[in-house]
Amino acid sequence: MQRVHRAVLGIDRSGRGDERLTGNLAAEHPLAILVGADASEDVDLDRLEVEERDELVDLGLGHSSSLAQAATLLRSSSMSTPFPEGFRWGTATAAHQIEGGNWNNDWWQWEHTQGSGCVESSGDGCDSWNRWPEDVALSAELGFDNFRFSVEWSRIEPEEGEWSTAAVDHYRRECDALLEAGVEPVVTFHHFTTPRWLAAKGGWTQPSTADAFARFCEYTAGRLAGSIRRACTINEPNIVSTMGHMAGVFPPGLRDVELRRAVNRVFIDAHQKAVGAIRSAAPGVPVGLTLAMSDYQAVDGGESKRDQIRRRMEDEFLDGTSGDDFIGVQSYSRTRVGPSGGIGNEEGMPVLPMGYEFYPQSLEATLRRAWEMTKGEIPLLVTENGIGTDDDDQRIDYVRQALEGVQRAIADGIDVRGYTYWSLLDNFEWAFGYGPRFGLVSVDRTTFARTPKPSAHWLAGIARANAL
Ligand code: BGC
Repeated sequence: MQRVHRAVLGIDRSGRGDERLTGNLAAEHPLAILVGADASEDVDLDRLEVEERDELVDLGLGHSSSLAQAATLLRSSSMSTPFPEGFRWGTATAAHQIEGGNWNNDWWQWEHTQGSGCVESSGDGCDSWNRWPEDVALSAELGFDNFRFSVEWSRIEPEEGEWSTAAVDHYRRECDALLEAGVEPVVTFHHFTTPRWLAAKGGWTQPSTADAFARFCEYTAGRLAGSIRRACTINEPNIVSTMGHMAGVFPPGLRDVELRRAVNRVFIDAHQKAVGAIRSAAPGVPVGLTLAMSDYQAVDGGESKRDQIRRRMEDEFLDGTSGDDFIGVQSYSRTRVGPSGGIGNEEGMPVLPMGYEFYPQSLEATLRRAWEMTKGEIPLLVTENGIGTDDDDQRIDYVRQALEGVQRAIADGIDVRGYTYWSLLDNFEWAFGYGPRFGLVSVDRTTFARTPKPSAHWLAGIARANAL
């Protein structure tokens, strides 16, 4: 008869199992590695199905249709590899993608501009402006230890120099509720959207925007001080500068290579000023930049073109992170570059609804590159990684492969401190609208009801075990 330790089943929902892992047990049973446990009394596995099905659900094994299937999963985890102690697990969102009704920023305007290419308006989002307690509860129930979300500048400073204490207090209540639920709030100060009043003055093409942003950070961080545990200054400034000022597919819809270079400089200046502002207003909160990174691969002699593209997309920003507390690496796929530029997807590779390849290996490659470019001086965090797909098994496959890459990077001495899945919810995917589904949790577009997918339980199980 197969036996399993009862303590394995008595999982402490608030605690992290890995802290309770004992050597013998780990070797003895794969489930011990999965959840972490003290060696103690044995129980019959035969009784497991009846008595402990709820716990299997908690482990992310609840979607297994039978105990046999669950047991196979457990056995296949006999090679489980732990993540370092204290490794952080979370999910990420952004204000404009989930809150709804953010009409006072440049994106809303863009969504309503004919010819912008946006397939629909962000509209009500996931109604998280009202339903944020549900998001907090979901994060906590699933067992993630942090939740990354952004504050909407156009709500906090709706007109230049006019501050909304009601808006910033809304975010403070959210942070406090997260803390209360045992989930660390990770706050992003700029995630793609810029207030209309600032966009009308030239937005990120103007050097003075860096100062306006630093003022906003100082005000907001000051009012959130004590309630946030990590701060991300600007989300993917490289995407905003490139898509908005060179490719013309994000607001303000410009196509000007030189302007894009200037915008890069304004963003780097803004980031550095924001780091100072947040540090002085909220002392002790780690601050960093979150950067979109791709595994840039040279094809058929594309090395120098690849380096040139990557310099503007990544290296300039990485150079601007010196002295930061962390670098947020965000990666989704690879980019193939030939001698005259990007050459698109490789024939035969699976392509996702976003139009790029299913390529989970990009995370490992970009972690290695961020580490190398910053000479191993700044700890890394995966602040976004995920997949937009309707196939939840494909999501699990993608994340598993991405996490294997994280473990290889860690094994090689790269200081990766955590993994954040994009996104908690199916949400507004910018110009693509609500089509691509990145969420671990689906959101009904009429009732806004949230329903965790099997992948949510699967990843939560890995987070709890702190092992893959
Ligand atoms: C952005 C998110 C976006 C995600 C998936 C990242 O570039 O930060 O806002 O939803 O990728 O495309």
